[in-house]
Amino acid sequence: MLELLIKRRSIRKFKSDKIEADKLQTLIQAALLSPSSRNIRPWEFIVVENKETLYKLSKVKKHGSSFIKEAPLAIVILGDPNKSDVWIEDTSIAGIIIQLTAEKLGLGSCWVQIRNREHHLDYSAEKYIQKLLEIPEYFKITAVIAIGYPAEEKEPYDIAKLPYEKVKMETFTRKYSGGLK
Ligand SMILES: Cc1cc2nc3c(=O)[nH]c(=O)nc-3n(C[C@H](O)[C@H](O)[C@H](O)COP(=O)(O)O)c2cc1C
Repeated sequence: MLELLIKRRSIRKFKSDKIEADKLQTLIQAALLSPSSRNIRPWEFIVVENKETLYKLSKVKKHGSSFIKEAPLAIVILGDPNKSDVWIEDTSIAGIIIQLTAEKLGLGSCWVQIRNREHHLDYSAEKYIQKLLEIPEYFKITAVIAIGYPAEEKEPYDIAKLPYEKVKMETFTRKYSGGLK
């Protein structure tokens, strides 16, 4: 698991190759296996493979979403606040589970933040996607995960350089000394 976490980096350049049906199925199964508070599963997922829709999704924000148009696949993560008050946590967990599963399948991915982001002045990224994908207004949108075979290489993380100082022992004042230095 640690090896997978060290290797996982956000990938924003993708080959045009389509994601095989069995890999897509694994991604969806992984998403649906995500833990959620009280097992309410307040999430829903929209799988997007249509080129034109991916292009339109890439325009959702001024910054940080343009690469969606190169991706052969995007998974839009929706949350229903009527079902759970912790839909943000639940949908975020599903997002990272999708990303780690993608990594395991040899795919690259990147999270595109939608919640609390704007498309244009006074027009939210969420509204833009609700309209584009015919999503009922009561559904919130946490993120879009862009997925594809990587067309860029990223350095894996260096286990010796992790911010170990962020970890305390027992109380806030006692440092954790178990990291590699
Ligand atoms: C909550 C969240 C929101 C993010 N939003 C975006 C985004 O909108 N666009 C983008 O290109 N990357 C986005 N990212 C990716 C981060 O920039 C990236 O994870 C971070 O720089 C660390 O790099 P790494 O993923 O390669 O470890 C987001 C990541 C998280 C966890």
